[in-house]
Amino acid sequence: MKIIGGSASDALATKVARELGVKSGKLEIKKFPDGEKYLRVLDDVKGEDIAVIQSINRTPDEFLFEYLLLVDTLKDLGAGKVVSFIPYFAYARQDERFNPGEALSFKTVSKLIESVGTDAIYTIDMHQHRVLKSSEVFKIPSHNLSAMPLLADYVERSGNLQKPLIIGPDAEAEQWAKLAADRLHTDYDVFEKERLGSESVQIRPRKANAKDRDVLIVDDIISTGGTIVEALKILFSQGARKIDVACTHPILAGGALAKIYETGAGNVIGTDTVPSSISYVSVAPLIAEQVRKEGFR
Ligand code: R5P
Repeated sequence: MKIIGGSASDALATKVARELGVKSGKLEIKKFPDGEKYLRVLDDVKGEDIAVIQSINRTPDEFLFEYLLLVDTLKDLGAGKVVSFIPYFAYARQDERFNPGEALSFKTVSKLIESVGTDAIYTIDMHQHRVLKSSEVFKIPSHNLSAMPLLADYVERSGNLQKPLIIGPDAEAEQWAKLAADRLHTDYDVFEKERLGSESVQIRPRKANAKDRDVLIVDDIISTGGTIVEALKILFSQGARKIDVACTHPILAGGALAKIYETGAGNVIGTDTVPSSISYVSVAPLIAEQVRKEGFR
């Protein structure tokens, strides 16, 4: 059995290998002077079952292409079962043609990923809005795991919030709000969100009132931070005492974190699906558990 991480997730792959008591496989990855990518598998992988770990984050096209080179090469070199862990799956939000003529990027990326021959795919809190199950997109076995219980455990250990009200900033976040609330034995609600543009959203509260409550906002992605900032404003205007924020994928594009702190958030935490300054929680145990269940040789 081998654990191999692409360059988007090499540290995470090393942590997973450590959890499993095996060594992580080694790659040589570089760019030719013209910008083309070069990838070489440095281990003997013939007959070995392999877990490939590669997020498609921040420079998504580059990391996607690297993933395609890696899995195609492993199969070509005679690897056994290749199971892909794509902790952050980019392009999932473009799952519909919002304007005439737009690319259905989610579908195209999924087709590419399947085409190189991975035997199964695992994602973590993949954005599933209109597409509700990854099996609607993938023909191979696919599983969407959640990092929310790990994030909730971290919040509990930090001891910063007393019986927090859990808030999901939009209807889709209900799944994560519920998971966190169950874990922290508390209540939850979600807001209603309307996206006005790629950086602006309008949010309206529903039933819950945050007056004199500690609050934990949970979401899958923090990208521009627009969603979290609007949710913070509503919760503070209701009289929330303090508010922490937890997300699985801290993309943190263009000053998102500063905007969130400026709006008054306390702790902001994320996982290492996207390495960042707030990646305090590792998803390595979650991935290692699934590798064990796959029964790799
Ligand atoms: C979208 O519905 C997602 O669940 C997140 O709420 C969204 O991607 C966050 O984006 P931003 O940080 O740019 O508001």
